[in-house]
Formats: sequence, structure tokens, C-alpha cells
Amino acid sequence: MKNLDLNKQEIQELPQVIRVGLLGFGTIGSGVFTVLNNERELITRRLYKATGRHVEIQITKVLVLPDEYPPGLPTELRVTDYNEILNDESIDIVVELIGGLNPATNFMMQAMEKGKHVVTANKYAVFTAQGALEAKADETDIHLRYEAAVAGAIPILRSINEGLIGDQVESVVGILNGSTNYILTGVKNGKTLEEALDEAKQNGYLEADPSADLEGYDAMHKLGILGYLITGKYPAASSIEREGIEKITAEDIKNAKQNGQAYKLVARATKNADGEFTYSVKPEALNPDHPLYHTEGVLNTILITSKYAKELVFTGYGAGSLETATAVTGDIVSIARDLHIC
Ligand code: HSE
Repeated sequence: MKNLDLNKQEIQELPQVIRVGLLGFGTIGSGVFTVLNNERELITRRLYKATGRHVEIQITKVLVLPDEYPPGLPTELRVTDYNEILNDESIDIVVELIGGLNPATNFMMQAMEKGKHVVTANKYAVFTAQGALEAKADETDIHLRYEAAVAGAIPILRSINEGLIGDQVESVVGILNGSTNYILTGVKNGKTLEEALDEAKQNGYLEADPSADLEGYDAMHKLGILGYLITGKYPAASSIEREGIEKITAEDIKNAKQNGQAYKLVARATKNADGEFTYSVKPEALNPDHPLYHTEGVLNTILITSKYAKELVFTGYGAGSLETATAVTGDIVSIARDLHIC
């Protein structure tokens, strides 16, 4: 590690360019484009400090649908055929931000087979593959990272994988879905369900299929990924008790408020007496002394209990363009760093 003043050091040598192919230019994709461009100089200097080399990250191609012309996407980067990215040998990292199961999963598998590193925010695809994506990454010796898949901007996967690498996590209790928390909070504060849902949609918090949020599937996918990190094994979808917020009425939320409680969609992974984890996602009316009670709007909170660290609480934006983009950017930059350190 070079000891350099990040603000003054001039990096003179010709850059080694890490080229990125971005799949999708929606809420997160456009955010990643903005963060990487806005922070170009800072990222280059940090990479220099970490590796001693002048490494630059450039998005060179962006895949969108044939009839899609997103504002802010330079025409020269726009491609509509994935093969243009897959067969471009200069592209080092494929960043999958189109969401959904397929073609996203196939695109990631194909990228890894071609020796390209993969970053994704796709909790649905990562959970549903039940370890197949990680197995492909091992087999092809590439980096696969998905920090943005769980709890948006909160670096929870890094915290578990690295910070707690020597500890034993015993339980996870969290609000892992920003849009439902936004809706529940909005209604508690006097909005109608329709208004709160509409605002969540306008802000880009909801999945393309909002039932994934409302019926608890999105939180279930994220909880499953956390389960994998903690136990080394993905829980099957059928083993996770799941109930969404769709049956909760505005009346229920108001009554709870009158009793001093707030409804939250709570995800739990808990070790039972046999040492096995059990998983659930369901709405709960929480009292003010509960650590999740004060998490409002699109924020997520994750409470981890572990053998040695005891209790850890992480709170941050669980959805949103630039917020989630920081997690994707962190994965891209850390791959660029690792490629030049190893
Ligand atoms: N729909 C998701 C949520 C987006 O509301 O949390 C971020 O994963």
C-alpha cells in the first residue's frame, strides 16, 4: 500500500483501463454511471494508493432494449445485443442491473464462462440460483460480487464476510425491503395506501413486479442470501416462512399507531436449539423499544447477534438510485483493485 496524499499526488503513468459492460440503465444502472463519472478522480487515486498503479475504470458499453433511449446515456455507449458485450474481449467486468431471473442469470453465467468478472444487484437471480452462480465463479476463477443485492447502500455482505469472518452469527433480524417500509411509514403518517405505493413507484423503490415487494418475496431473497453467507448454504424458498404486507389495511396500521406500535415487514434468521437456522419474513407490529421500530421510510435496518461481537445494528438506504449505486461501485472498484494486487 502506497502512502500518498490523495489530494496532491499526480498520477503520471499511462492508465491500465478496466472496462465495464453495463447491462441495464434503469434506476441503479444510471446511478452507477453517475457515481463512477462523478468520482472518477477519487477512485483513480484510491486505486493508485492501493495498488501503486494508475488504474482507470471506464464504462465502455451499456446494454438497453432496442426501443429504449434512456436520458443521460451517451449514444456511443448504447448497445442492444448482449453479444456485443460478451464477445468484446476488452471488457473485464459485466455489471448486471437488468433484474429478473432470465436473461439475467444466463448473461451472468455466459460472462463468467468468457472469463469476465461479474457484479450484480439481482437478489432474485442470486437467491434462485441457490449457489450455482458462486459455483460458476469458483470454477472459472473469476470475481462475482453482489453487495447491492441486500439492503441497498448498507455494506452488510462485506461486514459479514470480512468483519465477522472470525465470529459466529447467531441471528439476523431486519427490515430488508425499502418500498414496503416506505409504504407502511407513509400510511402511519396519514397517506393513503395508494398515495404511498405511488410515491414508492415514482422514487424507483419498487421491483418491476411490485408483488415481489408487497408479498415478501424480495425480502425473502435477501434473507436467503444472508443465510448463505452465515451458514454456507442457501435455504430453499420452501423453507422460508413468508407473508407480505398485502393483507394489512390502513385501518390496521392506524390502530397499531394508536397503541404506540408500528408495522414493519420483519425478516428473521434464527439459530434453533439444534444449531440449525430457521427463516421467516412477516409483518409485525413493533413496540417503540424494538431496535427496528424507528426505521422509517425507505431505510433498512439489520440487527446481527453474534457469539463475540454480541449486537451490531446497521441502518441505511435500502433502495434508491445513487444510494444503491454506491454498493455496485464498491464492488467494481474492489474487483479492479484485486485484479491489480494479485
Ligand atoms: N424493491 C427493493 C426494495 C429495491 O424495496 O427494497 C431494493 O432492493
